[in-house]
Amino acid sequence: MSSTLHPDGRLNPALTESNDSGNPSIHELIAQRATQGAMSRRGFFKTSLGATAAAVLGSNLVDGMSNTAAAAGISPSPVGGIGFTPVAANTAPMTDAVTVPAGYTARVLAAWGDSLTAAPHWDPAGAMDEATQLHCFGAHNDGMHFFPFPGKRVGNDRGLLVVNHEYCDPGLVCNTITYGTDTITQDKVDTQLAAHGVSVVDVMRMKKGTWQVKRDSEFTRRITGKTPCKISGPAAGHALMQTAADPAGTTVLGTLNNCAHGYTPWGTYLTCEENFNGYFGSKTALTQSAHEKRYGISAGGFGYRWHVADDRFDVNMNRNEPNRFGWVVEIDPRDPLSKPVKRTALGRFKHESAMVVVGEDNTVVVYMGDDERNEYLYKFACAKKLNPKNPAANRNLLDSGTLYVAKFNANGTGMWLPLVHGQNGLTAENGFADQGEVVIKCRQDADRVGATMMARPEWIAAHPSTREVYLTLTNNSRRGNTPVSSNKVDGTSSAASANPAVDAANPRPDNDYGHIIRWRDGGTGNVTDTVFTWDIFVQCGDKASTKTLGASYTPAGHDGYKGNINGDDYGAPDGLWFDQDGRLWIQTDQAGDAQGDWVNIGGNVMMCADPSTGVTKRFLTAPPNAEVTGVIGTPDGKTLFVGIQHPGEDWVGNFTMNSQWPDNGTNGPTTFSGSSPAKPRSSVAVITKDDGGVIGT
Ligand code: FEO
Ligand code: CA
Ligand code: CA
Repeated sequence: MSSTLHPDGRLNPALTESNDSGNPSIHELIAQRATQGAMSRRGFFKTSLGATAAAVLGSNLVDGMSNTAAAAGISPSPVGGIGFTPVAANTAPMTDAVTVPAGYTARVLAAWGDSLTAAPHWDPAGAMDEATQLHCFGAHNDGMHFFPFPGKRVGNDRGLLVVNHEYCDPGLVCNTITYGTDTITQDKVDTQLAAHGVSVVDVMRMKKGTWQVKRDSEFTRRITGKTPCKISGPAAGHALMQTAADPAGTTVLGTLNNCAHGYTPWGTYLTCEENFNGYFGSKTALTQSAHEKRYGISAGGFGYRWHVADDRFDVNMNRNEPNRFGWVVEIDPRDPLSKPVKRTALGRFKHESAMVVVGEDNTVVVYMGDDERNEYLYKFACAKKLNPKNPAANRNLLDSGTLYVAKFNANGTGMWLPLVHGQNGLTAENGFADQGEVVIKCRQDADRVGATMMARPEWIAAHPSTREVYLTLTNNSRRGNTPVSSNKVDGTSSAASANPAVDAANPRPDNDYGHIIRWRDGGTGNVTDTVFTWDIFVQCGDKASTKTLGASYTPAGHDGYKGNINGDDYGAPDGLWFDQDGRLWIQTDQAGDAQGDWVNIGGNVMMCADPSTGVTKRFLTAPPNAEVTGVIGTPDGKTLFVGIQHPGEDWVGNFTMNSQWPDNGTNGPTTFSGSSPAKPRSSVAVITKDDGGVIGT
């Protein structure tokens, strides 16, 4: 559809009024595109950098304020404070809604199956199909980022919301309560592949203050488990990346298990492939290699059974296909024709998020975690510096640099250990033929160099002025038990098989509730340093817990299950984000059913914490059996987009037995409210303050 027929002004004239940035309006950009034919990515970036990328740059610590604050080496209190009255925990009997503090409103913006184009919405009463899913919002949304449109005011009222779709519930997709024994067809696999990946959604605020998806946008895009992606960096073309379908080893179909994310100062989105191993299986007996064991590749996978119908996911038939997943994938959201790029220099593991931070000298680093029990924390330092004046010069920054893995010392210092072929035992004799093999076998590298095994590294967030970096360690049931074992130095351990003793950075055995650790490179936030100082920001827990660790757990200093939260209790921290004012938002991923260990804490939550005092308040509670994951605000902080994933999960025999959200209408009308809710649906909600103020104040 021609964009010239749908200028924004016809939909919302208010948005056309203010553009005081000196940059072209979105109308001008779209007009440029119309006259240029295919989207010119270079052109868009050239014109949009002034406002859009400036906002990104600002939040990536390249402004003067950050330099001053970094020298102080402490996290200041949030500008504007934290002022809301916390909501109550969503304990049993649970409320089937997103609940936010008095004076705030949460409304559903987009749910799985909502059409992103003029084509009809999916009707959740039936099965999904590939063709429908390809124009609809994907399943199980997770990490996301908001790319504001150029122009100071428009940037707060409209932007591209880029959203990960981590996985799908095959039963909900195929409308069956017996998926595990149903006949698997290629159509069923293709539909599920389409439910994965990324959505680029054009969203705008309407005059009355509500947000909606702009369904006639030329920027709308679905990237799926079948979208061709370029492989770049040291593993491109490597023998371990070659398959019969792609003998060159340079192009892979799709991106999978897109969990958390990152974004770059040059305006791109990073989607991170996490539990990719679960999609692979084998129709015949599988003899796992050590490498496959280390990454959890098995004959059965996670039960998707795609390998039964689609040979690409049969490991015995396509031994190298799993090597083509587990990467950070860079996407240009402003160019719907661009090809996603798997940046292999950043290493292959079960990527959670990719937090990009720019140093005072314009060095670009990316902090990344591998989310599995007793896996590792990584940092990638780009070889070339950021060129703030020429975005095009930055486009391949993530292809060359040095990958490091973290070692936490007991004295509060740490070291970034380089993962470079030929160094620290990463040699041909030890199974690493070249740097390509080093990045493909990252876990084995980290085993070899003696990195610190961590309690499931999830999201990473950097303070907007100090470059102090925070990491959620969600939980770890394999720590502090006997017999003690570590990931073997020769890389032959199976995934999540180690059972290390507690250490300073992971001080609790049977870590049900998780913790948040933080560090400063160089002690001051100088990202180029290979040493750092660290401490534990908080040990999560339930102050009312009556559980005890038992006589065998006696390390000094741990605080059992009660934690040391200064404020409202929560556990299993996962999503993590600093807003523009320095508030730390923490999202959780536990069972969400307010039972057992969670009877007092209730369902999942989004907390708001002051990094300087640790004071923490419960801002949002989720529907039953839902995870809260994904959070991003508009540049002015007055709109927050929050992801609610897998409401009602763990249903048995009846899709809606645990939740009917969001079609029960408890957070505003949805595309299918008014009918009897057929399935719970993962969704993005929009949160606003009723007085129009900044969220959290
Ligand atoms: Fe997909 Fe580690 O969360
Ligand atoms: Ca997560
Ligand atoms: Ca999680």
